[in-house]
Amino acid sequence: MSFPTHRPRRLRQSPAVRRLVRETHLVPSQLVLPLFVREGIDAPVEISSMPGVHQHTLDSLRRAVAEAAEAGVGGVMLFGVPAVRDAVGSGADDPDGILNVATAAVAAEVGDALVVQTDLCLDEFTDHGHCGVLAPDGSVDNDGTLERYAAMAVAQAQAGSALLGLSGMMDGQVAVIRGELDAAGFTDTLILAYAAKYAGAFYGPFREAVDSQLKGDRRTYQLDPGNGREGVKEAVIDAEEGADIVMVKPAGPYLDVLAEVRAAVDIPVWAYQVSGEYSMIEAAAANGWIDRRAAIQESLLGIRRAGADAILTYWAVEAARWLRAEL
Ligand code: PBG
Repeated sequence: MSFPTHRPRRLRQSPAVRRLVRETHLVPSQLVLPLFVREGIDAPVEISSMPGVHQHTLDSLRRAVAEAAEAGVGGVMLFGVPAVRDAVGSGADDPDGILNVATAAVAAEVGDALVVQTDLCLDEFTDHGHCGVLAPDGSVDNDGTLERYAAMAVAQAQAGSALLGLSGMMDGQVAVIRGELDAAGFTDTLILAYAAKYAGAFYGPFREAVDSQLKGDRRTYQLDPGNGREGVKEAVIDAEEGADIVMVKPAGPYLDVLAEVRAAVDIPVWAYQVSGEYSMIEAAAANGWIDRRAAIQESLLGIRRAGADAILTYWAVEAARWLRAEL
């Protein structure tokens, strides 16, 4: 009888050995919690397509951020849902706009415990729902949008955001915003560039979360799902323009892009496990078709293994608590 010369199973023989040789680990500080704050409501509203996720009032937002800090997550990413919208997204750079007010409220309280971050994009603030302003022919005007982003960046930094998440996918946005921040004295404000953001179906539940007004799609600015090289190129350009961190989004369906971006740049690479990825696991778990906790942990570990240094996930607090309990 001949025996196998290679026995990789030796490394899997017991929980203790498996734990000792595990290559990839997640820690709470690598998780970032996205949070929605909505103007003009007196109680949190659950998002029906994202069970467990809410549009917050200012008060419930404060509590949610404190809870995230307590759980040890690395940061929170704030999204605003304004009561009134217009063509240019005036609420975005108004210091009294909901996102800036909320940022100021939480940054003052927990700014030392975790990194308070803000979404920098116009889609929540425009009445047409696009991420930029529109040209007379109805197309999204890249350079006109950059001026709006620059104003928004300064307003968010002034409100106390430590890290701006540039999610609009306009060309040149990183360079323009970096220049504007520096000129205004905000040289320490971090820029996270959503470098490789793909147009697709997985943002569906988020659009409910922010009451998106969008008709049509974002295919003239977000990436085509078939294009991996183009995603890497976007990340390289954003790093050259001065991004401190680059992001791949969504995460699960784009792990190949994530791995290639990780290899192509020498700055942190993050991934956004988006609303649709959340809702799919929640829906399957609610039907008893999948082990919820195991599926969540596996999805996060896979994103980390592919190369993400940190992950934006709606499960950040829950996952952080599990990770702490396992230590
Ligand atoms: C744009 C933005 C979107 C998301 C984050 N920032 C929506 C979009 O591009 O349509 C989606 C996040 C998610 O689906 O969880 N401001």
